[in-house]
Amino acid sequence: MSKSNTIVIIGLGFVGLTFAVFLTLKKFNVIGIDNNQNKLEQFKKGQTSFFEPDLDKSLKKALKKSLAFSNSINNIDSADMVFVTVGTPSKSDGSIDLGYIQTVSEELSTWLKKSKNYPVVSYKSTIVPGTTENFVKPILESSGKIAGNDFGLVVNPEFLREGSALHDTINPHVIVIGGDEKSLSKLQKFYAKIYLKKIPIKTTNRTTAEFIKYANNAFLATKISFINTIANICQRLSDTNVDDIAETIGIDPRIGSSFLKAGPGYGGSCFPKDVQALISLSNSLGIESLLLNATHMTNVQQADKVVKLIEENIPNISGKIVSLLGLSFKENSDDIRQSVSISLIEKLLARNVRVKVHDPKAIDNTRIIFGDKITYCKTTNECIKDSECAVLLTSWDEYTKLSNESFSLMKTPFLIDTRRLLTKKNLSIKYVGLGVGK
Ligand code: UDX
Repeated sequence: MSKSNTIVIIGLGFVGLTFAVFLTLKKFNVIGIDNNQNKLEQFKKGQTSFFEPDLDKSLKKALKKSLAFSNSINNIDSADMVFVTVGTPSKSDGSIDLGYIQTVSEELSTWLKKSKNYPVVSYKSTIVPGTTENFVKPILESSGKIAGNDFGLVVNPEFLREGSALHDTINPHVIVIGGDEKSLSKLQKFYAKIYLKKIPIKTTNRTTAEFIKYANNAFLATKISFINTIANICQRLSDTNVDDIAETIGIDPRIGSSFLKAGPGYGGSCFPKDVQALISLSNSLGIESLLLNATHMTNVQQADKVVKLIEENIPNISGKIVSLLGLSFKENSDDIRQSVSISLIEKLLARNVRVKVHDPKAIDNTRIIFGDKITYCKTTNECIKDSECAVLLTSWDEYTKLSNESFSLMKTPFLIDTRRLLTKKNLSIKYVGLGVGK
C-alpha cells in the first residue's frame, strides 16, 4: 500500500488528523496511521473522535480525495515523508512519558530496514530537548540505517491550538525545522509549496527545535499566570479592572496583547504538562527554575481563588447548589484534560456542595469522570435554576447571551464570572468578575 510521494502521519489526535486532512486537501497522497482501530473506523465514516470546529467537514472532503488509513507503518511499502504526531503525556512526577514515542520509533525502525529511498522522518510531537538525539535516534538507527545518510531525522514542532486546529494549520505563524541539511532543504521546499503566504521558516538543530516549542509554551503560560496574579490583586483593590490593564499594557509592542486574558487558570493537554516537563528537565540539569515553578504554582492556586470567591459570598456552602457554566478547558472544544472546571468540581464535592454543570460539548467527557455525583444540564437555564451561585468558567459564546431573566431562575441571583464575559452588561444581580475590584 502506497503511491509515489506518499506522506505518512502517525498518531491521529488533534495535530495528526488535522495535518492529514490539510495535506490531502493540498493534493498530497496521505496515509494516516493510528493503532486505535475504532478511531480509524470512525474517521473512515467522516466522523472525528473529538470536537474540533470544521474538521469533520474537511475530513469528509479529504476522504473523497486520497486520504487513507492504516493501523501500522509496516503496512506501507515506502513513503517520502513520515510525520510523528503521537501524544507525550506527563508521568505522575511531571516528567514526560515517552511510551508512545518509543513504540512508534520501534515500529519505524523495523520499517526503515526495508526503506529504499531517503525518507524524512519528522517528529511533531512535543518532546523534551535532547529526546531525539538521545532516545529516538538510537532506536531508529538500530535498524542499521544511519540518520543523515539513509534517512532524514527532523524535529518539526507544531503550534496549533485546540478549537482552531484547522485554522492554525492553514495559517501557522512560524515553521520550525531542526535536522540534517538534506532533510531541511527537502522540508523547506515542501512547506514553501503548501503555503501560499510566505511563512517564516526557522531552521536549526534538533535539540534547539525541541526547546523552541517548550520555551514558546512556557512563555505563554507565564503570561497567563502573570495576568492572573494582576487579576487577583485587582480583585482586592477597589476601582480596578484587569481587562483595562491587560488591554493597555498589551499595546506596548514589547509586551503584546495576546495571552493576557485573566481567568480560572490555564488547562488543556499542553501548558500544564509542558511547564512541568520543563521544570523537571531543569531540575535534572541542577537548575532550580523559580520562574517556571511560580508559573505552575500560580496556576494550581488559581482554582482555589475561585473556591474562595464562592465561599466568601456563600457561607456554610455544604449542601447548597452551585452551578458551573463551562467544563472544557477552553471554548470550541470538548476537551476536559487538565480543565480547571474538573478540579473545581472535585473541590466543591469535597465540601459537600451539590454541583450542577452545563457545557455545549463537554458533558459526555465529564460524565465519564463524575458519573452520578453531579447533575448534568442540557441548557444554561436548567443549570442555574434553584442554585445559590453560578460560576462561569469557559468563554463559550452562548454564555454572553445570559440575561437578568435567566438569572432570576436562581435561588439567589449571583454570578462569579471568571472570564468577565458579562461585565459590560450591567446585570441587576449580585455579580463578581474575577479581576474586577469593586
Ligand atoms: C496551546 C498553545 O497555544 C499551542 O501553541 C500549542 O500547540 C498547544 O498548547 P491549547 O492548549 O490548544 O494551545 O489552547 P490555548 O488557546 O493556548 O489555551 C490554553 C489554556 O490557557 C486554556 O485553558 C485557556 O483558557 C487559557 N488561556 C489562554 C487563558 O486563561 N488566558 C489567555 O489569555 C489565553
